[in-house]
Amino acid sequence: MAVKFVRPKRVRLARDNWNIQLDEQGRLRHLVDVQGLPPQLITQILDTAESFVSVTDRSIKKVPLLRGRTVFNLFFEPSTRTRTTFELAEKRLSADVMNLNVATSATTKGESLLDTLRNLEAMQADLFVVRHADSGAAHFIASQVAPHISVVNAGDGRYAHPTQALLDLFTIRHFKQDFTRLRVAIVGDVLHSRVARSQIHALNSVNTGEVRVVAPPTLLPAAVERMGVHVYPDLESGIRDADVIIMLRLQKERMRGALLPSEGEYFQRFGLTPERLALARPDAIVMHPGPVNRGVEIASAVADGPQSVILDQVSFGIAVRMAVLSMCLNRGESQ
Ligand code: CP
Repeated sequence: MAVKFVRPKRVRLARDNWNIQLDEQGRLRHLVDVQGLPPQLITQILDTAESFVSVTDRSIKKVPLLRGRTVFNLFFEPSTRTRTTFELAEKRLSADVMNLNVATSATTKGESLLDTLRNLEAMQADLFVVRHADSGAAHFIASQVAPHISVVNAGDGRYAHPTQALLDLFTIRHFKQDFTRLRVAIVGDVLHSRVARSQIHALNSVNTGEVRVVAPPTLLPAAVERMGVHVYPDLESGIRDADVIIMLRLQKERMRGALLPSEGEYFQRFGLTPERLALARPDAIVMHPGPVNRGVEIASAVADGPQSVILDQVSFGIAVRMAVLSMCLNRGESQ
């Protein structure tokens, strides 16, 4: 698993993304980050995904859009939802799909990330889906691949998880239609969350009425207000009258030092229970990117309750990933 990646100093992530993600005609070539994507491109991704939802409802769930194209899934970090929904999306688009098993690949014998990429390029790869523990890994790979190859970030370190944010937008639009009147509360470990960072940029891009972050001060990034959010230090005020509540997992694997007294105490103060959910709007929806830690950030009665759309997020993830893959690889062709 330990494929060491050192981000070169010259890579300035957010500033460079504008250039690296779009081709000369302004079409999506790579998806590294939601930040830097033009809002109309975000809307185009959501609209394209809409057209793929019906494909996933058919008995034969296939379209030939990526026939003859080869997609490699490179997951250097564990995943359930993202890896499998990418693979399903690729297969439903009729791509040839290769999953690199990192644990049994030559990376365990010391092969560098770049050498691995060069070898996969030699196998006529068209697109790499990349998950990596290091922030900036997807950007680095996108900056190194041959001109005809696209890279889609499936989550890198604490930096970005753009397809998660896009499928979250899709889910919110499906249930709530108009973003401009919505109060969206993002609750929990914002500090370590690539999902929260991407969600904040995505929600602001579509002019969401109010984006709130709700967390203890130890789990908030410094100067988070500069990202265009309102900070709420307690759950009760943070979710009051909210239309959408997005719960985040405590990312213990990324925590250094004692940021919390205990999981029990965290649940006492920030766990979403049915009683607390009643403070939100009666038609509020509850979201979670997964994996869910029941009894830590959310009670089972809420995760499995009538306001939860957690499994809808997973289903919509297939259509959203189909949209991203087809837009990256079929530039210039109508969807
Ligand atoms: N939401 C998400 O990234 O889940 P996985 O880690 O299972 O892919």
